[in-house]
Order: sequence, then structure tokens, then C-alpha cells
Amino acid sequence: MKQSIFRFGVDYYPEHWPSERWPVDAQLMAAAGFNTARLAEFAWSKLEPVPGTYDFDWLDQAIEILGQNGLQVVLGTPTGSPPPWIMHQHPDIFRVLETNQRQTYGNRRYYCPNNSTYHDYTRRIVAAMAEHYAGNPAVIAWQIDNEFGQGDRCCCPVCIAQFQEWLRAKYGTLDNLNQTWGTMFWSHVYTDWEQIPAPLKTASSPNPSLALDYYRFSSDSYVAYQKMQADIIRQYHPDALITHNLMGIGFGQLDYDQLAADLDFVTWDNYPRMQWTLEQGLDTVQVALSHDAMRGLKRQNYWVMEQQSGSGGWEIVSAAPRPGELRLWAYQSIAHGADGIIFFRWRTARHGTEQYWHGILDHHARPGRRYDEIQKMGAEIGQIGNQILDSQPTASVALLHSYDTRFAFQIQANNPNFDYPRHLLDIYRALHEQHIAVAVITPETDFSAYKLVIVPALYVLTEPVANQLKQFVTNGGTLVVTPRTGVKNEFNVVVDVPLPGLLADLCGVEIAEYDSLPSGVSNELAFISPAPYPFTTPAEASIWCDVLRPTTAEVIATYTRDYYGGQPAITLNRYGQGQVITIGTFATADLYRVLTPWFIATAGVTPTLTAPRDVEVTVRQHSGQTLTFILNHTDEPQTITLPHDYTSLLDNGKKLSGTVILPPKEILILRG
Ligand code: GLA
Ligand code: ZN
Repeated sequence: MKQSIFRFGVDYYPEHWPSERWPVDAQLMAAAGFNTARLAEFAWSKLEPVPGTYDFDWLDQAIEILGQNGLQVVLGTPTGSPPPWIMHQHPDIFRVLETNQRQTYGNRRYYCPNNSTYHDYTRRIVAAMAEHYAGNPAVIAWQIDNEFGQGDRCCCPVCIAQFQEWLRAKYGTLDNLNQTWGTMFWSHVYTDWEQIPAPLKTASSPNPSLALDYYRFSSDSYVAYQKMQADIIRQYHPDALITHNLMGIGFGQLDYDQLAADLDFVTWDNYPRMQWTLEQGLDTVQVALSHDAMRGLKRQNYWVMEQQSGSGGWEIVSAAPRPGELRLWAYQSIAHGADGIIFFRWRTARHGTEQYWHGILDHHARPGRRYDEIQKMGAEIGQIGNQILDSQPTASVALLHSYDTRFAFQIQANNPNFDYPRHLLDIYRALHEQHIAVAVITPETDFSAYKLVIVPALYVLTEPVANQLKQFVTNGGTLVVTPRTGVKNEFNVVVDVPLPGLLADLCGVEIAEYDSLPSGVSNELAFISPAPYPFTTPAEASIWCDVLRPTTAEVIATYTRDYYGGQPAITLNRYGQGQVITIGTFATADLYRVLTPWFIATAGVTPTLTAPRDVEVTVRQHSGQTLTFILNHTDEPQTITLPHDYTSLLDNGKKLSGTVILPPKEILILRG
């Protein structure tokens, strides 16, 4: 996506406020340095107050006032929250949850993505909006709906009937489906397509092949629903850019890779203080992983469509962002490849569920600490935004994240303490702390250009992916493989060869047996001396232990305890011009902290910069020019030694070299 200016802006809901206030808001936005606002998302009740009667006057007026103050707009289609006049008349549009209960009115996102009545309403409102706004030069982009798929997968009769059609198209005959799924198990042999159910929670423990196909079907349903809207918008407004606001690595119900394929660019909603590891509070490494995963979907720069601007909260209010954090988190987004930062939201709502989801302004609308901080950043972006625009993050390490595998682990966790995204985060954390840039991509992506590819628990492994991995290593790449890789074929059926299945030859090991560890039970790893890298810390094995039987690999570490004490736990195999490291246990981030220096030395990858662990370092490159971002997430000043001379963008181009002290929550953007 080619972008002419760096986008800096805010999510604005003019329909929540008297129109006399709009000019004051617009002036304050301009004074904050904003050039963009997202509007109309969730405004269906105002855009189509009664069936078939549209009211665009208010939105035209809001766009005009913003335009007079130098802001262009992204328009959201309002389909994330159908109004009562639709839902009251057509209760069959309500989604049926996996517990077999139909949702009722009162929140949002309660519709079935396959309901044809809802499709009709959707087409009408989207076409009316697209037709009306196609000629308005202030409208630069569209956001379709809002955070697709949040909540359960719909299991209504419409979806089940369409699932049966979807299966018919995929398998052709019932014989083929029965064979592939192994329905002879517990006599589940289907003799009519109409007998095939959804994997309801009430039935519990479904056939894993059926469940994985249902999850894929459910994801396809949202992809198709999004495409239906995108096609209409493109028909009326061909030069507009189309996006959707995704939800980072924490969200695993949709195949984001496929959802992103139909979009011109990706955006996502970034709330650092309320991520999915709530027990950890703030985890900026997890935020970094989300950024890299969202960028990885199209391997293109992206925007943050909702960047946190205050405490979040519906019923509970989250801790206030500390001074400097809003700006720091927004720069973290840019450091990972965001070319647009849109803060959520402008002014904290007085009404409705999100009364405590704080915006830049509080309920009273007097600019305060948060406004001042964002305004400071706005002035900086005005100076340097366009120098950053279009520069691309680079990485030599790829971490493979598979939605198919993720779905399959949702069906069978294997061990209650195993969490697939957490496993990715543990590995990512060790790399990130050692200042190694990581591209987070799906296994189907071409990864031949990386030096090190990490394959965490690639449970569902297809032949094309296995072949690509072999090719990568043959050509000199380094691969790291962790447990439960290659267990299932694409139909979620367990392979009938020794694990890691299609990769056994490449890894030079077979898994003799495995042990799923109960909570609180661990094993220990002993590194063979002399190890290829000086391991100093004793490392713990937990959750899962694969007992490796090398065929061609050499043993790097063994387990010390239990009946497989002395048996191999980590191996290294030379294959073609490359090498494969096989790790037999999941363990925690500590193990990867110990192993990362070895991984990168083996692969010939070097850290971006030497810096303290909690200082984040990233790089964006642009036609031979390198921008290094250094972010101090800690509450203490941090000392960084610069390897050469740099120009500091946030310091009016001041030259910096040698030892630099970076104050808490501060940022350096260095050219050179
Ligand atoms: C999401 C949505 C927004 C808003 C915020 C806060 O990210 O996209 O509409 O609801 O959460 O809850
Ligand atoms: Zn449905």
C-alpha cells in the first residue's frame, strides 16, 4: 500500500455528542497534530433510523468540519452492531453459541455471519454508504465491520446447513468424508449429509476432524462476509483502501491470514494494558509479538486502528497509563512497522457499556495529561512522520504461526498447561530480549530468505510445508523444531509413522515415546559436554517430554530424571547445507533464553544492538537508510552504548554517539 503521509489520528463518534461541540473537537484534534479520524463504526441507528431511510446529513457535516481542520476520514461500516429494528423482526439472525444457546439483544457482534436476511440488510447499508461517499475526497479508506469473530462460533441451523454444503464441496462423497474422518470410531458413519452436526460444547469432545473443519468453515464464513462488503465498496469506490481492525496474536478464532488476503492493508487494535495475559498486567513483549504477527499477515506495514489512549474498562476500570506510556506504546507500534496510529477514542463516552473505556479526553472534555502527551507526539510526528513512512522492518529470523494448528490445539490441548500462543510468546520473548528482530509469518509463506526459521509445535503439518522446510535446510537454513510438530495431517488425523512424522528424516530423530507431565512435575536437562555453545544455566523441562531417538542427529542435551533419565532431549542434525535443532520439551521462556544464543550463532544471526534486556530495539529500513528505534519500557534510566554515530530524529537531528542514557519511558529514533 502506497501512502502519501504518515497517518496520525483518532477514533471519533460524533453521533455521541451534540453537533455544536464538533467544531471544538475538530480544532482540538488539529491542535493535537491529527490528520485522520475513523467515523461511523457502530452508527447504524443514526445512518438508517428506519428501514430503507438513510440519513447521511449528520455524517456529511461531521466530515466537513473535520476537513476544515485538516483531517481526512476512514469510514467504518456499521454491521458490527445491527439495530433493534432488525433484530426484533428477525431473531433468527442472532448467533447460536457453541453451548447451543441463541444470543439475545443488548450488546454487539451477536449476528450469524451466514444469515441471508442479514446479508440483505448488510448489502443495502454498505451500498448506500459507499455510493454516497465514493465522491467525497475526504474519505480515504474503509474499515469493514469491527473485530470480526469475537465470541463464539455460530452454530445455528443456517450455519450447520452451510457447513454440510461446505463439506460436500470439499469431500465430494460421504464415503470419502467417512474414510478421511475415520467415522467408524464410535459408529459415527454418516449416511446423509444432513446428519453431520456442529461441534457443540453440549456434545463435548467431538471427532477432531469434524471440529477442525467446522472451525475452518466458521472462519471462511467471516472471510466471505467481509468479501461481500469489500466487493460492494470497491464497485462504488474503486480507489479507496479497505481494511479491517484485527486483534493481534491474542485472538485465535479466525484465520487472519485469509481474512487479510482480501484487504488492502491490515490494521489492529492495540491495548497494551489489557492483553490476553491479564495476570501479567502489562507485557510489552507480547504487544511486540502482536505487532510482528499482524505485520506478518501481508508482510506489509500496517496501522493501529485503535491505540490505547486511557484506562480501559466496561464494568472494571484498568490501571491508568503512566506518564509517557501512551506515547511510548504508540512509538512501539511505529517501531514494528505501523504507518498509521489512530487512538481509541477521542472523548470518553457518558453513556453505554463503554463509559469507562477512557479516551484522550475525559467525560468533561477538558484537555489534560493524556491530551498533552499525545499532542507532544503529534508535533513530533509532524516533523518526522514522513521520514519514517514506508521504511520496512527487517528480520533474519522467522517464527511460524499457524491458524490451522491453533484451531487443532483448541480442540485438543494435549496438556492442560500447554497454550500454543503462549509457547510462541516464550520463544519470541527470548529472541526479543536479546534484540533479535523476528518476522511472525504463517508456514505457507515463502520463508526461504530467512536464516533461522523456528517451527513451534506445528501440530498440523502438510506435505507442501514439510517440503518447503526441507528445501530451506537443504539450502543452508537453520531450523528449530519443538514438540508436537508433525503429529497431524491436514485432516486432523494422527500420522502413522514415527514422530515428528514428515520431518523425522530432516530432524534426524524419531520420537521413541513421549510423556505429558502433570502440573508441578518437571524434568531437568543436562547438556552434553563439550556443548557447541557454553550453556551455563541449568535448564528445566516441563509440560511435555519427547524422548528422542537419533537416527543421524547428535545429542546436545539429555533428561536427567525419571525412567528416561539419560535419554536425548535436544539434538542437532546436519542436513544438506543446513542444520536442524530438535527440542523435545516445551518448558518456559527460561529455556529459550538459555538456548537463543546457540540458535543465532548456529544460524549466523547477530543482534540488532547490544542493550539491556528490557530496552526494546528494532530497525526499519528504507532505500539503504537504517532507522533504529530504542525504547525504554522500564521505570529506570538505561545506558546504551552506540556502536557508531547516529542522527537523532526526535532531537532535531542532533548527533549521538558513544554512551547514551535513555530516561524511563523514553524513545530514541536514530538514523545511520
Ligand atoms: C474494541 C472495539 C472498540 C471498542 C474497544 C473498547 O477494540 O473495536 O469498538 O469497543 O474495543 O472496548
Ligand atoms: Zn449461524
